[in-house]
Amino acid sequence: MRDFATAMSDRPPTQRTASYEADPEWVGRVLLLYSGGLDTSVMLHWIQERYGAEVVTLTVDLGQPAEDWDVVVGKARDLGVVDAIVVDAREEFARDYVSPAIKANALYGGGYPLFTALGRPLIAKLAVEHARAKGCDTVAHGCTGKGNDQVRIEATVATLDPELKVIAPVREWRMGREEEITYARAHGIPVKGGTEAPPYSIDDNLWGRSSEGGAIEDLNAPTPDDVFRLVTLPTEAPDEPELVRVGFERGCPVTLDGAELGLVELLERAAELGMRHGVGIVDQVEDRIVGLKIRDVYEVPAAAIILPAHRELEKLVSTIHQNNFKRALEDKWAYLCYAGLWHEPLRLDLDAYMDSANQLVTGEVAMRLYKGSATPVARSSPHALYDRSLASFGESEGEFSQAASPGFIELFTLQSRMAHRIRARASDHGRKGEGE
Ligand code: ARG
Repeated sequence: MRDFATAMSDRPPTQRTASYEADPEWVGRVLLLYSGGLDTSVMLHWIQERYGAEVVTLTVDLGQPAEDWDVVVGKARDLGVVDAIVVDAREEFARDYVSPAIKANALYGGGYPLFTALGRPLIAKLAVEHARAKGCDTVAHGCTGKGNDQVRIEATVATLDPELKVIAPVREWRMGREEEITYARAHGIPVKGGTEAPPYSIDDNLWGRSSEGGAIEDLNAPTPDDVFRLVTLPTEAPDEPELVRVGFERGCPVTLDGAELGLVELLERAAELGMRHGVGIVDQVEDRIVGLKIRDVYEVPAAAIILPAHRELEKLVSTIHQNNFKRALEDKWAYLCYAGLWHEPLRLDLDAYMDSANQLVTGEVAMRLYKGSATPVARSSPHALYDRSLASFGESEGEFSQAASPGFIELFTLQSRMAHRIRARASDHGRKGEGE
């Protein structure tokens, strides 16, 4: 019997499944989302060759470390682009994407703070804007057909501009790494770092870094140490804990240790602290939108400090009802973001709720960083639903009367006590029934 995978791969390849896919005849000028890496460099040439089209590249800076944008632009120019654009979108990313995610305590699958999922709709929005400005009819990206990113980018492009078409060369060109290198060599595309495939597939921005593939695919083995490029291994982190105070205003982080910082800088500094203390390593098997279960290793040093601090403050200022209810909405928010439905009205409705729920989430939380953990150890807020004189042992004045407690207990436990009696009686009857 043939296995499932072979049976499926025998089907003939289909062309243009979706209305937004480009008709090869009609591709005139393409806006290519360009990282400067091998895939998108090969793509740059391949699009010109395959479609006879002009190419404009767009490279988006979301705070991914160690990129030299001049080099990336130079490479694009050498490969014959009409124009090569670099956009520094870090501020917008932090303000309009990461900040709402913080207010929503957004985590997918329990541990993924969604940095990639948050970045894609912004990248796609910028692609639409620059495609229009440069007279492009088509947007091209380097995502594969197995991941979530294709969904997020194409969903956003098709939502924001139904006229624009999309091409995803990796889904159709059927080149493996070796073929890509051969193609690159044949067309004068620089290949750096030799022919060895990089050991992992990486994506990163200022809210985190992910590694997939290679040795990580073996679910039954611990992550190899060489995956971790950001966060110090917890075993090698300093023996002394460090405290950092995170200040929030209406749910958004605004200070670190009392110093007012713009959000980008604040997140960068929080990340540095977390990295030093081995904070923010996540290893999880994830349900992708396209059905697959995939293991991801995340390094999220900033999120691992900011999110628990934010939640701690919410606990202090919001009621039990608000806090319990919000959890369900947070999961929904995170799922819609993960699934690429950034412009889904429900997500916008939920954003409005998150903003409202964060009205009074102002105050400060001290986090203790120590060998891989980030733990809230102190908290304060002008809006705390906490009154030490009420909470402390011993007699207190005002709204809490211990004398009222027995009355409360009698009424609060009424149904449960009654039910207990009735059940006992019913099971007694049952036993007698059997005996007869
Ligand atoms: N699993 C995460 C997600 O779906 C991270 C994906 C990282 N992307 C990548 N191209 N390596 O959002």
